[in-house]
Amino acid sequence: MSRNIVLGVTGGIAAYKAAALASLLVKNGYTVQAVMTKGGESMLGPATLAAITGRTVPDSEFNPDYVARIPHIELARFADVVAVAPATANFLAKAACGIADDLLTSLLLPTAAPLLLAPAMNPHMWNHPTVQHNVEILRRRGVYMVGPATGRTACGEEGAGRMSEPEQIMEAIEDILTPKDLTGLKLVVSAGPTHEYIDPVRYITNPSSGRMGIAIARAARRRGARVHLVMGPVGLPAPWGVSCSEVVTVEEMQAAVNEAGEDAAAIIMAAAVGDFKVETVRRHKSKKIGGPEIISFIPTTDILAELGRNKNNRVLVGFAAETQDLLNNAAAKVAKKNLDFIVANDISLPGSGFAGDTNQVSILDASGQVERLEMMSKYRLAGHILDRVAALIRQKSAS
Ligand code: CTP
Repeated sequence: MSRNIVLGVTGGIAAYKAAALASLLVKNGYTVQAVMTKGGESMLGPATLAAITGRTVPDSEFNPDYVARIPHIELARFADVVAVAPATANFLAKAACGIADDLLTSLLLPTAAPLLLAPAMNPHMWNHPTVQHNVEILRRRGVYMVGPATGRTACGEEGAGRMSEPEQIMEAIEDILTPKDLTGLKLVVSAGPTHEYIDPVRYITNPSSGRMGIAIARAARRRGARVHLVMGPVGLPAPWGVSCSEVVTVEEMQAAVNEAGEDAAAIIMAAAVGDFKVETVRRHKSKKIGGPEIISFIPTTDILAELGRNKNNRVLVGFAAETQDLLNNAAAKVAKKNLDFIVANDISLPGSGFAGDTNQVSILDASGQVERLEMMSKYRLAGHILDRVAALIRQKSAS
């Protein structure tokens, strides 16, 4: 995927955050070319952005030292996204009118790249009818906006005007670059562990971090799906734009998955659901006097197997975490739970499984095909899983 970003920096106090944004983008594999207005340069040194991005910051459209022959045209062609952060009221006005009196405003006219603006200014300026009118013109023209956030601005006033945080701006850039092949579809994803209580202060669980399910939910939303995440206790927030039910026990997870899954095109069970619960949950904390007690467990409901029995036209995806005989165990689960495919990983391998940001899996489908994938980030793996889900949904709706 091409990932060239022209990062425009105009003269707002939030320009200092543009350095953090540039750094975040570079760390995530983007090639970033900073372009600063005169106002931007008085707020943040071009040398800072040049050092972070590894690319000279052209200081004028007509600077003969800058390598490009016709800078505004070359930058217009180079960009996959033009992101301006911060975008001042003055910049919004120029962009709305097509004024091209410096390198940044000049490259906006010849570029075919989408434009993303992160406005930042005093709340009264933001609410001024002229600014709002300009924003409206830009929006109608298909310009993307992120923020401004509400809070305390640098001038000491409360209101809308703070520039969005770098993470949110990068999220918006990634959104723009992601094809929306899941638009119109609802997906339900489960994530994390469950807790089954023994008494009011003790429970049994497993070390699932929830990161795989969260990565799938995030990637699916980005691809245009309406996503509902059913999340066990992981202490992590749901991704932006994803609705979420926070649950604790298997019973709660089942109720939430079933309710949200009724009109879903696909249900992806990435949660590590507990297989057993305590037969009788103690009403009070067990005391150590009297010695350890014997606890009886009874099976929980298998949420996915139940869904498999009432599958209708939905795509069902399971996960299998195994420590031995990976492929046979996983294949048996595909058949037993009536799944379209299962994502199987050997959790005893380094870099694979519950903790961490990577996973190494094999995907087994209902026809017995096995695809072995290399070790990759959970987010990239989410993309592979969703490619399959998208193809299966298309297949099912065509048949
Ligand atoms: N699963 C579920 N409900 C359960 C147990 C598991 O929905 N009570 C789902 C998991 O979310 C996962 C798949 O079933 O997608 C396989 O889970 P796993 O724990 O690997 O398999 P089990 O069927 O529980 O079998 P075992 O623990 O014996 O390997």
